[in-house]
Amino acid sequence: MGYSVREQVWWVVAIIILLGLKDGSKACLEEEREALLKLKEAFNHPNGSSLPSWNNLNSSGCCSWEGISCDNSTQRVISLLLNYTRAQEFEDINWSLNASYFLPFRQLQTLDLSGNFLSGLLGEIRLDNLQTLYLEDNKLTEVPFLGVSHSDNSKTLEGSLQQSNASLTSLASLRTLSFYKNSLEGSLPQQGGLCKLKNLKVLSLGRNKFEGHLPSCLNNLTSLRVLDLQYNGFEGPFPSSLFHSLKSLRFISLEETYFTGIASLSLFANHSNLQLFSISCSNNPNLKLETENPPFIPSFQLLIFNVIQCTMNEGRNNRSSIPSFLLHQYDLRVLQLGYLNISGSFPNWLLKNNTKLVSFKVGHNFLTGPFELNSTLRFMDMQYFDASSNPINDEIPPHVGSIFPNLLSLNMSSSSLQGGFPASLGDMKQLNSLDLSNNNLSGYLPQEFATTSQEKYEKG
Ligand SMILES: *[C@@H]1O[C@H](CO)[C@@H](O)[C@H](O)[C@H]1NC(C)=O
Ligand SMILES: *[C@@H]1O[C@H](CO)[C@@H](O)[C@H](O)[C@H]1NC(C)=O
Ligand SMILES: *[C@@H]1O[C@H](CO)[C@@H](O)[C@H](O)[C@H]1NC(C)=O
Ligand SMILES: *[C@@H]1O[C@H](CO)[C@@H](O)[C@H](O)[C@H]1NC(C)=O
Ligand SMILES: *[C@@H]1O[C@H](CO)[C@@H](O)[C@H](O)[C@H]1NC(C)=O
Ligand SMILES: *[C@@H]1O[C@H](CO)[C@@H](O)[C@H](O)[C@H]1NC(C)=O
Ligand SMILES: *[C@@H]1O[C@H](CO)[C@@H](O)[C@H](O)[C@H]1NC(C)=O
Ligand SMILES: *[C@@H]1O[C@H](CO)[C@@H](O)[C@H](O)[C@H]1NC(C)=O
Ligand SMILES: *[C@@H]1O[C@H](CO)[C@@H](O)[C@H](O)[C@H]1NC(C)=O
Ligand SMILES: *[C@@H]1O[C@H](CO)[C@@H](O)[C@H](O)[C@H]1NC(C)=O
Ligand SMILES: *[C@@H]1O[C@H](CO)[C@@H](O)[C@H](O)[C@H]1NC(C)=O
Ligand SMILES: *[C@@H]1O[C@H](CO)[C@@H](O)[C@H](O)[C@H]1NC(C)=O
Repeated sequence: MGYSVREQVWWVVAIIILLGLKDGSKACLEEEREALLKLKEAFNHPNGSSLPSWNNLNSSGCCSWEGISCDNSTQRVISLLLNYTRAQEFEDINWSLNASYFLPFRQLQTLDLSGNFLSGLLGEIRLDNLQTLYLEDNKLTEVPFLGVSHSDNSKTLEGSLQQSNASLTSLASLRTLSFYKNSLEGSLPQQGGLCKLKNLKVLSLGRNKFEGHLPSCLNNLTSLRVLDLQYNGFEGPFPSSLFHSLKSLRFISLEETYFTGIASLSLFANHSNLQLFSISCSNNPNLKLETENPPFIPSFQLLIFNVIQCTMNEGRNNRSSIPSFLLHQYDLRVLQLGYLNISGSFPNWLLKNNTKLVSFKVGHNFLTGPFELNSTLRFMDMQYFDASSNPINDEIPPHVGSIFPNLLSLNMSSSSLQGGFPASLGDMKQLNSLDLSNNNLSGYLPQEFATTSQEKYEKG
């Protein structure tokens, strides 16, 4: 029995309405939905149960599945946040992902695969629109698609460089790339590789096992704002020309590398966007930080300045001094100058100039008194204060409690402190760690400390 024209029109209208509803219910493309379900299977292999909302029964459509965002007009997946998705119980299972899983997502802009115990990413990542790739906190040992491979095997390196040409060109839109906390080994190729990623703004190689010299072609990545090299075996002369070129840098993280020679802060004088500079040299006596020569006036206002155990402005008798560029800083949140053999009097001015400080640590130096804090000062954000192991030889400022009302931790152990315990210590209601051990203090802690029994206090 056939339908009348009227009925046929009705059907057509009904179908259009249904299709419209389907769009409205945030469906994604069939091809991408199938790819997502395959990806889910891979993440759950052998018997996991992550990503429960990724199921065909979910009527709200795959664009609203957890971790997924689609483009509003094309309904294509643009963001896949799969960080910390694989079950903890699979931590010890050797697990790699084939990059081809991601090929169907042609408009993908953001891919976060952090924290999944990934030991490999096989094949080529070919994603023309990818801007952000996070692979943090995995178990990667090499990244063939970036031309990074074991340095002791030049054949492998050559091979992966050849292979990687196509994929690198297709990752040219990357702006953020982080391999933070993996086990990546080998040197960066002197040409190609990362240097092809001309739009890169954020590059984190921190906490890996990279070694060798930094390639000079990195100088070309002039858009870089964040460069994290911390905890790696990078060696060779301190890359001054690199830092000279990268004028847009905001964050520079250089803890525990093996560069040699002099790192002069004057290099950064004109880096007006610099906000974070962090360096430590516990295992590297061959890198010397120079903050005075040549003298410079900073165009930047740092938020974070960290220097730990580096030979700094080495002067007579292994003594150094507080970097004088700090005279121009008034916006610091975190200041750490530890194990630097700094002599001279306690930098009361540095505190006075930077009232937004959250953390102030100058332990293990040769700072002497006077230790004076104007009682009208208020550091509402200050949480950590450490001036331990310095021959301060003064009293605890009587108003310390009202000056740092929100302090969590106060460490002034081994600082030759004299006098009594100010009653205002009791005003620091948030305090959960107080170390005043190994001083010449007399008397008793204020009554308030008797009531909070769980916490650890030490007095001397
Ligand atoms: C997966 O299988 C293992 C071993 O058979 C079992 O111990 C574990 O509980 C299973 N996990 C899940 C999520 O079913
Ligand atoms: C469908 O997906 C949404 C969004 O992720 C989720 O809140 C909901 O629980 C899912 N429903 C089912 C039946 O899985
Ligand atoms: C897409 O639509 C949602 C909800 O209507 C809106 O919040 C979001 O900003 C839109 N995204 C884009 C990229 O237009
Ligand atoms: C995953 O990363 C995104 C940013 O990329 C973050 O907002 C989110 O909190 C992270 N999720 C987990 C579980 O860590
Ligand atoms: C990745 O998957 C593709 C397509 O399924 C396959 O051709 C390729 O051999 C795989 N690559 C690796 C390294 O497993
Ligand atoms: C890859 O690029 C290098 C130079 O950038 C070139 O010498 C080499 O022939 C290219 N390999 C392939 C397979 O295209
Ligand atoms: C990139 O850097 C290399 C080596 O430093 C240099 O020879 C080359 O001209 C630079 N390329 C561009 C496009 O700036
Ligand atoms: C910073 O800029 C000033 C003025 O433009 C210039 O004289 C100086 O040489 C520059 N310093 C560095 C380290 O580039
Ligand atoms: C500090 O001085 C001691 C000798 O007084 C020296 O052994 C040590 O290397 C110095 N530390 C730094 C970071 O310069
Ligand atoms: C910091 O304090 C010193 C000494 O009081 C002063 O000379 C300097 O101008 C101050 N700097 C800023 C930026 O406030
Ligand atoms: C403390 O600061 C106040 C206000 O800035 C000022 O008037 C006073 O002289 C200062 N006291 C000392 C001892 O520096
Ligand atoms: C205080 O600092 C000293 C070193 O200067 C350290 O040994 C001690 O553990 C610290 N105290 C606390 C409670 O962290």
